[in-house]
Amino acid sequence: MELQKTIPLFLLFCCLISTKIFVASTVTCIPSACSTNEPLIRFPFRLRNYQSIDCGFPGFNLFCDASNKTILRLPGEVRIMVQGINYSTQELWLNDPNDCLPQLLLRLNLSSSPFSGVYYQDFTLFNCSVDFTTIKLNPIACLSGLNYTVYATSSMKGFRLLSRPECKLIRAVAVPVQWPFFEQVVSTDLSADIRVTWANPDCRSCESRGGRCSLKRTTFSREIVCENARGVGFPKGARYAIIVGAGVPAMLFLIGFLCFISGRIRSYRRRAQPVLEFSSVVAPQPIAFVGLDESTIESYPKTVLGESRRLPKPDDNICPICLAEYQPKETLRTIPECQHSFHADCIDEWLRLNASCPVCRNSPKYVHAIV
Ligand SMILES: *[C@@H]1O[C@H](CO)[C@@H](O)[C@H](O)[C@H]1NC(C)=O
Ligand SMILES: *[C@@H]1O[C@H](CO)[C@@H](O)[C@H](O)[C@H]1NC(C)=O
Ligand SMILES: *[C@@H]1O[C@H](CO)[C@@H](O)[C@H](O)[C@H]1NC(C)=O
Repeated sequence: MELQKTIPLFLLFCCLISTKIFVASTVTCIPSACSTNEPLIRFPFRLRNYQSIDCGFPGFNLFCDASNKTILRLPGEVRIMVQGINYSTQELWLNDPNDCLPQLLLRLNLSSSPFSGVYYQDFTLFNCSVDFTTIKLNPIACLSGLNYTVYATSSMKGFRLLSRPECKLIRAVAVPVQWPFFEQVVSTDLSADIRVTWANPDCRSCESRGGRCSLKRTTFSREIVCENARGVGFPKGARYAIIVGAGVPAMLFLIGFLCFISGRIRSYRRRAQPVLEFSSVVAPQPIAFVGLDESTIESYPKTVLGESRRLPKPDDNICPICLAEYQPKETLRTIPECQHSFHADCIDEWLRLNASCPVCRNSPKYVHAIV
């Protein structure tokens, strides 16, 4: 009799203990930093070797290097220096600890990291055997040597200036810039910090209410909780009461409202059928600064110039890319959407890196997408 009574009590006790231990274990994480002027490190970031593994989110490990700089390791053996962290907008400002950001940008690939750019701008890097600083181009000093100079450009003008036999095209890189450039940059040393963001874990609404996210480990999983946030102080019972008391009338009202709206739309359509023209509703999509694929480029008409050098559009007899006059027997390619023509070699190179006409900036891809 005694025993039969104690066993369930004992089980209940065990149950309570285990919930206490396993379900509600949140570690206390004290914010840290590599030095006094370095960014504050707290969830989702964690300072390795200083904060427990449960203080950070996977992929957000930071460490301090020998000179107390805050370093983030990214896929591809990239070690990048963290210049600033904004926890409320979830943004990071990054630079190269060795002061040669362009070199790092050539290796950087964020696609398998938790981070991505806020704004991207495409830059093309050229390696030239002559020095163009005399024509006001700004070289990348840390990539240049005694007998060669490296330049980066995001503009048609710079691309044109550098597309010459003395220069070898290195690569085009999509740089996660801090701000989008409204003016294309003729030449830059790409030394300014880059700016990236992270989408997961999303603690923006928690932070905006003054709260702090943390990781709560339960027996089988880990979840992110928002602690100390304002405006969520309702006890559970009150929350149910609110859901039932306000939710049900709100739902009924919403259903009624939707019925009313759809009725109105139907009668409106019946009266004014042609007003809902679809094309006028389509919002313009942002133009993506990525190149065209080879098959699209090949689909653009080619012309071999005859002795008369008659052009498909007789506006100019100079190729706007390489600034050379068209010669008989040369192959030209025309962008069908705007009828602008160029030397095929020149425009092919350009289109592989940029999906827009270098003269009028119309994007062939964009045109296709809308039509
Ligand atoms: C980045 O890496 C992914 C695979 O992880 C690859 O598909 C992609 O092409 C790479 N991007 C660049 C620009 O190298
Ligand atoms: C630029 O070219 C030189 C030789 O012309 C080469 O030694 C150097 O590594 C190249 N630099 C880059 C960044 O490609
Ligand atoms: C650079 O050019 C000079 C001559 O202009 C030559 O003597 C020297 O060997 C070259 N250096 C390298 C590293 O190619």
